[in-house]
Amino acid sequence: MKLLSKLLLLALLVALPTSTLVAANTPKDKTDKEIMRKVDALMKKMTLREKIGQLIQLRPSEGDITGPDGEQLKVEDFIREGCCGSLLSVASPDEIMRFQRLAVDSSRLGIPLLFGHDVIHGCRIIFPENLGVSASWDVEAAERLARVSAEEAAAFGIAWTFSPMCDVSADPRWGRVSEGSGEDPYLGAAMARAMVRGYQGDDLSDPNTILACVKHFAAYGAPQGGRDYNTVDMSERMFRDRYLPPYRAAIDEGAATVMTSFNDFNAIPATGNKWLMRTVLRDELGFDGFVVTDYNAMHEMVAHGVAADGKEAAAMAFDAHVNMDMVDCDYLMYGEELVRERRVSEKTIDELCRAVLVAKFRLGLFDDPYRYGGDRYETAMYKSENLKIARDVARKSMVLLRNENDLLPLDGNERMALIGPFGDSGSEMLGSWSAFGEGDRSITFLEGLQERFGSENVAYTEGCKPLEQIEGGIDAAVAAANGADVVLLALGLPNKCSGEAASMTSIELPQPQLELLDAVAATGKPVAILLVTGRPMDITDEVGKVDAVLVTWHAGTMAGAALADVVSGDFNPSGRLTMTFPYDIGQVPIHYSMKRTGRPMPSPDARAKYLSRYLFTPNEPLYCFGYGLSYTTFDYSDLKVLTPEVKIGEPVRVSVKVTNSGKRDGDEVVQLYLHDKVASTTRPVRELKGFRKVALKAGESKVVEFTIQPEDMAFCRADMEFAQEPGDFDVWIGHDSNAPLHGGFTVKQDIRK
Ligand code: NOJ
Repeated sequence: MKLLSKLLLLALLVALPTSTLVAANTPKDKTDKEIMRKVDALMKKMTLREKIGQLIQLRPSEGDITGPDGEQLKVEDFIREGCCGSLLSVASPDEIMRFQRLAVDSSRLGIPLLFGHDVIHGCRIIFPENLGVSASWDVEAAERLARVSAEEAAAFGIAWTFSPMCDVSADPRWGRVSEGSGEDPYLGAAMARAMVRGYQGDDLSDPNTILACVKHFAAYGAPQGGRDYNTVDMSERMFRDRYLPPYRAAIDEGAATVMTSFNDFNAIPATGNKWLMRTVLRDELGFDGFVVTDYNAMHEMVAHGVAADGKEAAAMAFDAHVNMDMVDCDYLMYGEELVRERRVSEKTIDELCRAVLVAKFRLGLFDDPYRYGGDRYETAMYKSENLKIARDVARKSMVLLRNENDLLPLDGNERMALIGPFGDSGSEMLGSWSAFGEGDRSITFLEGLQERFGSENVAYTEGCKPLEQIEGGIDAAVAAANGADVVLLALGLPNKCSGEAASMTSIELPQPQLELLDAVAATGKPVAILLVTGRPMDITDEVGKVDAVLVTWHAGTMAGAALADVVSGDFNPSGRLTMTFPYDIGQVPIHYSMKRTGRPMPSPDARAKYLSRYLFTPNEPLYCFGYGLSYTTFDYSDLKVLTPEVKIGEPVRVSVKVTNSGKRDGDEVVQLYLHDKVASTTRPVRELKGFRKVALKAGESKVVEFTIQPEDMAFCRADMEFAQEPGDFDVWIGHDSNAPLHGGFTVKQDIRK
C-alpha cells in the first residue's frame, strides 16, 4: 500500500472512535437488515436518557435505589420512566409478566424488558454442576442440558441466561470451579461451544431459545490464592495460551452477550479494561453482541482504586464500550452528565444502546413482549423426556476413582447401609446457582437406591451433618454398617461450599465426616465413598481406608436415579476428571499441563535436591486430569502417526486401536495429548488436543482416528503472534493425561512462504 493511502486509512481509523462498536452492529442477513432499520427508527424517537436507560439492568429484590438527588426510587419508577433495559433474577413467571406489562404499557415508548437469570445448570430441572457435566466429556450431553435449560427458562419468562462460564481454573480452593469446565482450555472450549449452541439454537427468534452470556471476561478463574474476586496478574502469553480459548470458542459459536469479570486483570479492572473489552473482545475476537458488567462491578472500580467515584467508574466503562450496567446505576446517574461534559460521545451511547435493542429485536420481543413465559409455564417444567436427559447427564458425569476388588457394581443381593449427611438430602443434590431448582423434587440417593434395590435392602442413617456432629450419629452409623454387607458412605461438601464466595484453604472432608469415615471403616465392612462435591478434594489420607470412591458431584434433580444406575451396573461409569485431584493442598494451583522448568522432575536421580520439587511431598497429584475407572478395562495399541511429516498449515492424522479387554460393555474417553519439543517459548509438558467418547462392547476393538488441526498446534510465540512453529512433536493417546503410548511427528516450514 502506498504511504499516502496508508496515512489516509490511519486517519480514517483515528476519526472513528467507535469503530469497534459500529462493526458490532453489522447485520447478518436480510431479517437482520430489517431489524437494523427498525432499531434506527426507534432510536430516532429516544431521548438520551431513554437510550442510557436501555443500558441499565436492575434487580427488583434489591429494594429501592437511591437516585442522584438522594430520592428513593423503586424499580417500577425506573421502568415507567423508560430507564431500565433489563431485570435480573425476578422470582416468578407472574412477576416477570407484571414487570413486562408495566414496561410495555406505562413507559413512553413501550420498549420491552429483557429478563436475565443464572440458569447455569438447569432451570427447574437441575443437572449436575458444570464441573460434573464436563467430567462426562460428552459435548452433546452439555448441549442437551443447555437446550432443556433454555426451554424451561423461556417458559418461565427468561430470555437471557448468564452462562456458559468459560473460566479455566486450576485452583480447587476457588469455589467457582464448580461452575466451569475445569482446568483445560481445549475441553473448556468444546463445552462452551456446545452450551452456546444449546441455549441459542440456530434461531434466536424461536421462543424456546435464549441469549447465552459468556462469562466472566476475563481470567476470573485465576485469582491469587484461589480467593474469590482477588487480583489476577498474569502474562499476556499465559492469558492467550490458557485462558482465552474457551471464551473465544463461545464467541465464535455466536454467543450473543458477554459478562465482564469482577477481577482486575494486570492491574486494570476488567470492567474498565479497554484492552480486554475492545482490543481483544471486539477487535480480535470479533464479538458483535453486547457486554454486561458483573454484579455491581462497575461501581467496584471505586473500591479497586482506579476510579475516584461512580462517575469516573461509568466513564471508564463507557470507554471500554461496556453496554450494560448490572445493578449499580452509575450509567444512569452519570451518563447524561458525562455526555454534556463531552467525556463520552453521544455516538458511543447510541451504539451501546443499539446493540441492546438489536438483541431484543432478534429475540422477537418487539413482535410479542410476552412470548417468553405465559401459559406454557404450566406444561414446560419437569417434562419426563427432559428428566431422562438429566438422569443421563448425571450418570455420565460420575467418576469412579477407586474400585478395589471390584466392589462396584453391587449385584443386588447385598444388604446395604447408606450412611452420611448426603444420603437423603434432596436440596444438597442441587449444588450452587441452582436457579429455580426444588430440593423436594430431587431424587435422593436413598430414594434412588431403594427404588432400584428394594427398600428392605437399603438402610439409611445420617451419621453426622455436613459440618457438624450429631449426638449418637456415629454409634448409629457403626450399628448400621455392622448390620450390612456393604456400606455406601455419602460424604462431601455442602452446596454452600460451592460456587461464588466459597473459597476454601482446606479442601479436605470436614472433621465430623472424617470421624464418621474412620468409625465406619473400622467395622471392616467393604465401604464405597460417594463423594458429593463441586470441586476436587484432598482425600489422600482417606482413599486407602475404603474400597471404592465414586465422585457423584452435586448431581441435580435426578441424582439418586443416576447413582442407582451406576452402583447397580445398569450404567457403566465413563466420567473422567477434568480437574486434577491434588495429593496435598500445598500443590495448588496444579494442573497436568504445567511447564517442564529447567530442572524437571521426574529425573534419573529422583533423590537429587536441586530440582523443581517439594521436600516432603510428591509433585504428582492423587488423581490426574482425565482419570476415571470403568467396570471394564481398555487397552491401547498400534498408535500410528499417519502423517509423520507435515508442513505448517497442514493437519496431522494419528490413529490408535482401543480394545475393551474386560467383560462388560463400556464407554471410553480416548484422549490425545501433544508436546511441542523445542519452541520459541517454553511449552507445557502435555496439552489435550483431541478426545473422543467411544462405545465398546466387551472384547470389541475400534480404531480411532484424530485429525490435529494447525490451530491446535499454534500458540503465542516469542514474537507474540498466535501461530505455528516448525519442529518436532510428541503425541500420546490413551486413557488419561499420563497416557504412555507415544508417537511423534515433525512440522516443517513451508519454504514456499
Ligand atoms: C455475580 C456472578 O459473578 C455472576 O456469575 C452472575 O451471573 C451474576 N452475579 C448475576 O447473578
